[in-house]
Amino acid sequence: MNFDREKFNAVKAAFTLDDDALRTMVEDFRADMRAGLAGEPHAMMRMLRSYLGLPSGKENGTFLALDFGGTNVRALRILLKGGGDYEVLSKVAKPLTMPGLYDHISADATAEEMFDFLAELIDEAIEGNRTTPYLLGHTFSFPSRQTDIYNAELIIWTKEFATRGVEGKVVNDLLKEALARRGMTNVTPVAVINDTVAVLLAAAYKNEHTYIGSIYATGQNTCYYEEFADGSAPATIINMESGGFCNLPCTKYDDAIDRESEKPGAQRLEKMVSGRYLGALYGAALADLLGADGIYPFTSIELSEIVADAYLDRHSAGAAIEAKTGMTFSAAERTLLQELATAVIVRSARIVAATYAGIIQHRRGEDELENQFIAVDGSVYEKVPLVAHHLRAALDMLLMDEAVNVQIILENTGSALGAALAAAMTETK
Ligand code: GLC
Repeated sequence: MNFDREKFNAVKAAFTLDDDALRTMVEDFRADMRAGLAGEPHAMMRMLRSYLGLPSGKENGTFLALDFGGTNVRALRILLKGGGDYEVLSKVAKPLTMPGLYDHISADATAEEMFDFLAELIDEAIEGNRTTPYLLGHTFSFPSRQTDIYNAELIIWTKEFATRGVEGKVVNDLLKEALARRGMTNVTPVAVINDTVAVLLAAAYKNEHTYIGSIYATGQNTCYYEEFADGSAPATIINMESGGFCNLPCTKYDDAIDRESEKPGAQRLEKMVSGRYLGALYGAALADLLGADGIYPFTSIELSEIVADAYLDRHSAGAAIEAKTGMTFSAAERTLLQELATAVIVRSARIVAATYAGIIQHRRGEDELENQFIAVDGSVYEKVPLVAHHLRAALDMLLMDEAVNVQIILENTGSALGAALAAAMTETK
């Protein structure tokens, strides 16, 4: 045996969140939503206003969409046809880092380099056109303080982005300057939205009764339509920055990941659930189990492969683990190591479910639970095995009889379509 069975049980148990722990989390999360909305200084979630309501479904015309928030950035030209219908007229996508060639997200990169790269991409999407006037919607998936639909200032980078000269700036001003440098004055950025808001807009354009939009990918965050039951403000979509919630039962592995991250102390929920961190969490737990120093650098894709191996001898799961640890394991050990990977993933799904339950309970107040959709986008939700299943199961447990009223739908056109819709909505306001 390469590891002690009791130690294994303890490491695995550290990732287990029982139903009571989850119910407590729902209550704490709701309380923090209220604190954030009231602007209380101790609130963990930022609860940022988007200055947008839900789309009417009638939006139409051609708009540009810039989708910027993960490792890939995309620019699109989209024709909105109304009634939930649309057509992508052109689309270009590029990674923000190309090892050995360029890196626009490290602390060595500057705002100018980053935004020139974005302008170039938009230029490709419009094929160098300098005459047709275009309104552009920008999905910018980082915590931003907005004063209206155009003005969004980056508060702080998340997801390990570190480019200099962007924090504290109005991102659309940086984009406008870059567009001007290329002579692209026919392109006017008019709206900035978070990716969660984009998902909600896109889903609500197609299905009425969608009030919650969520990203479960490199990062994890959710927005919802807040109607301010007390009439204190006009209804708007709120970008919660729910990855910042931190009243959570963290393990020493979570603490290790946090310490090694770009922003220790921040985004504690996100660091327990999102694709950027899941592999490393497993790596931290495994290193402890095997008595090794540091954190084995697994990616969430490798974690998925470990969990997906259904062959009896767990050969490919074992190969992935052996490649990182340099140790060899018996089939029985490999099965246990797979169980540990599963525990990391299941915990993630259950925590995210608790956040959704918290929002649903907050929105309904004392009313009956309306039939509704939650729109989710993101590689973890879509591709990591067991996530969708355990998310649903935990939501069912938390909502009990009323769970049937809530349907979770995958909305994977959101970031771009939502940006185009936001641009269109500035015309009809
Ligand atoms: C991070 C960002 C947030 C974004 C999420 C998903 O949590 O802070 O703005 O929505 O990642 O991309």
